[in-house]
Amino acid sequence: MSRPQQITVLGATGSIGLSTLDVIARHPERYQVFALSGFSRLSELFALCVRHAPQFAVVPQAAAARSLQDDLRAAGLSTQVLVGEEGLCQIASAPEVDAVMAAIVGAAGLRPTLAAVEAGKKILLANKEALVMSGALFMQAVRKSGSVLLPIDSEHNAIFQCMPQDFARGLGAVGVRRILLTASGGPFRQTPMSELAHVSPDQACAHPNWSMGRKISVDSASMMNKGLELIEACWLFDAKPAQVEVVIHPQSVIHSLVDYVDGSVLAQLGNPDMRTPIASALAWPERIDSGVAPLDLFAIARLDFEAPDEGRFPCLRLARQAAEAGDSAPAMLNAANEVAVQAFLDGRVRYLEIASIIEEVLSLEPVVALADLEAVFTADAKARDLARQWLKRHDR
Ligand SMILES: NC(=O)c1ccc[n+]([C@@H]2O[C@H](COP(=O)([O-])OP(=O)(O)OC[C@H]3O[C@@H](n4cnc5c(N)ncnc54)[C@H](OP(=O)(O)O)[C@@H]3O)[C@@H](O)[C@H]2O)c1
Repeated sequence: MSRPQQITVLGATGSIGLSTLDVIARHPERYQVFALSGFSRLSELFALCVRHAPQFAVVPQAAAARSLQDDLRAAGLSTQVLVGEEGLCQIASAPEVDAVMAAIVGAAGLRPTLAAVEAGKKILLANKEALVMSGALFMQAVRKSGSVLLPIDSEHNAIFQCMPQDFARGLGAVGVRRILLTASGGPFRQTPMSELAHVSPDQACAHPNWSMGRKISVDSASMMNKGLELIEACWLFDAKPAQVEVVIHPQSVIHSLVDYVDGSVLAQLGNPDMRTPIASALAWPERIDSGVAPLDLFAIARLDFEAPDEGRFPCLRLARQAAEAGDSAPAMLNAANEVAVQAFLDGRVRYLEIASIIEEVLSLEPVVALADLEAVFTADAKARDLARQWLKRHDR
């Protein structure tokens, strides 16, 4: 029997990281944890190291690394603790690694994910922000290294499963007319508009169907998440923004659909549990048990669909505009959104101001071409700076 695949989990302490480790633990004969990373939840990272005995763990600062290293030694583990972005890039590209789960949230995930791509690893991509920021460079790096890129977002994983068989062999989306990207509509789909000005971070994070990290939960409430996914879908499936239609489907049972020129529409269904796309990507093209319960269509009984209202969800409009503008626009959108969402989670701005901040940032900076990673980070930094100026000007 072949040796177990060595897996690095970037962002192991997060929602996707934990779901990934749950699936891996069900298949010790197939997968072994090579390395784990955490950022602020370091006691959780320690517990994960005890459970999975990785060769490496990565934390953001030297002092935290020393303390974790001491704790691990005291627990009898030989796990070596590395520090910062350099450590993340090292565990993403180490020669022993077969696959990397890219599950750090936000722009911080870009460099380590790219390091994994450049090293030709199989990439399980949850960190959509990496692709949104640097889509052209990212996809170029994937083609150059021959890395296999498997989407983890449930929608993109569903689309990937519904694509023509030859798509994964690089033969394109032959016969595909449209991609139908489903969205739950989040917790504020039916909230009276007059109440949206006063909703709290906890209300925004109370997603009706999915349990996720706080940043993506706010993005789901504002539908910026769907906007980022639209941009992500364009890169992953070589589609134009106009070919990607967002469909609100409140039950989150159909994870997305592909519409073919002959009128066939293929959908992937399942319970809303991220272990399904994670297991599907880990084992692709095979299938393994994910621990997710079988879908009970009789309990679901009905599936509803509606068009999104861009008046209610201005972030979706802004993301579509950024997708159409291309070049630096998506990176700026993403950076402004990260600053605005963090300020909302910190109680410094109101929910509706998230879109106002992003709209202002995008209107102030011209769109420029992104020739290299430095240009991506320059655009990102400019947008963060402009968003912070908005906060300062409004005394936040
Ligand atoms: N959750 C979902 O269902 C879901 C679905 C589709 C796609 N995604 C995507 O998957 C990614 C992760 O989402 P999540 O919900 O798992 O988020 P999460 O629960 O907030 O976890 C984020 C992970 O990233 C780490 N992290 C945060 N800031 C970091 C930094 N500056 N440098 C290095 N590591 C950092 C966190 O460490 P600590 O926890 O130790 O601070 C944690 O391990 C996001 O890009 C999201 O859009 C998530």
